[in-house]
Amino acid sequence: MSDRRNVTPNDLSAFWMPFTANRQFKKAPRMFVGAKDMHYTTSDGRKVLDGTAGLWCVNAGHCRPKIVAAIAEQAAEMDYAPAFQMGHPKAFELANALVNIAPEGLNHVLYTNSGSESVETALKVALAYHKVKGEGGRFRLIGRERGYHGVNFGGISVGGIVTNRKMFGTLLTGVDHMPHTHTPGANQFTRGERETGADLATELERIVTLHDPSTIAAVIVEPVAGSTGVLIPPKGYLKKLREITKKHGILLIFDEVITGFGRLGTPFAADYFDVIPDMIVCAKGLTNGTIPMGAVMVTSEIHDAFMQGPEHMIEFFHGYTYSGNPVASAAGLATLDTYRDDGLLTRGAEIAQYWEDALHSLKGLPHVIDIRNLGLIGAVELEPIAGSPTKRAFAAFVKAYEEGILIRTTGDIIAMSPPLIISKAQIDELIGKLGGILKTLE
Ligand SMILES: Cc1ncc(COP(=O)(O)O)c(C=O)c1O
Repeated sequence: MSDRRNVTPNDLSAFWMPFTANRQFKKAPRMFVGAKDMHYTTSDGRKVLDGTAGLWCVNAGHCRPKIVAAIAEQAAEMDYAPAFQMGHPKAFELANALVNIAPEGLNHVLYTNSGSESVETALKVALAYHKVKGEGGRFRLIGRERGYHGVNFGGISVGGIVTNRKMFGTLLTGVDHMPHTHTPGANQFTRGERETGADLATELERIVTLHDPSTIAAVIVEPVAGSTGVLIPPKGYLKKLREITKKHGILLIFDEVITGFGRLGTPFAADYFDVIPDMIVCAKGLTNGTIPMGAVMVTSEIHDAFMQGPEHMIEFFHGYTYSGNPVASAAGLATLDTYRDDGLLTRGAEIAQYWEDALHSLKGLPHVIDIRNLGLIGAVELEPIAGSPTKRAFAAFVKAYEEGILIRTTGDIIAMSPPLIISKAQIDELIGKLGGILKTLE
């Protein structure tokens, strides 16, 4: 049997890696082979402090015993049950547990296997909801520039990242985009939410008027845009989106794939911003990153609109082979138990100030042109190397890995979102090492 801890570059060609510079990676691979709590172990036996909760998903830290045991037990007891026209108890239990921590009114859950699938599901629910209500003329979907909603066709259509869209033809039709909320020059080094800029939400009113409100099904936004470099909404912006959508009978969808499960110090960003959308899309932290699973939480008004017609008829023609998979459900239940037992859905609030102060201590270091933060999310934006965008931040990423911290880069922005169990000493280590690395960059 081959020793998986000693994979050589020659073995690496078969796996076409996602969102990765494959040729570069395979020349100098970075491999994790173990993980526990706040740390990864590399294939050469080094510990790496996880500054990104994997990919924004391991909110409770790695290999938590309760979650590991629940997965093992469920896999041994019943590995799979058909998802259509059959059930198993844990999928229902988890739906109830989710509804219990969800904002008021989000009372029903559809399961998926990822953030991308959750987005597709929410968009389809929105279109179908209006249809069953007799408003099939509402076919338009509104997203936002610099928004990331996964990689499937609906998600890249409402998303606003050019590189993710430009290769893929006409995408969904009937989509428009609001401007993003990032205004460099006006808000650098703001701590948390900035005071001005909520009027950017009135762009929605303009788009709604342009197309006529009666043609618009839904607006989807990330409460805090993560993938394009942590863009914090101005104070009051999301409330305005809610007012405008409500006024025109348009559904508001929050994509909480990264903000869900305690990232801002509240169970969901909807709680943090005190704005209740009609649907919340989630994934990642739902199972602490262990087993692929996503969910869409919807209001009773949406759910009940579908519950009509003959009872023997399927009400919504949508779902996945693995919707509510037993092992994923067990992982989800144990994850929510772990979050509750350790107070993790609100721990971010206790440590957010320390995190903010540590992050902003990097102001003034070479190349740093902006720092942004909210809850346990942080971003450090670097001045790009002239003519070679992304190279400087990527160099920081590689150095960080070599020096024992995991950060993430998107463009020339360093993004961090550590597990919610991070200690103050570990914040010091993460930010201290990052500061040292920034000083050495070209
Ligand atoms: C806001 C948001 N939506 C959707 C997704 C897609 O999730 P997945 O990669 O699980 O499909 C992500 C992933 O980072 C995300 O950040």
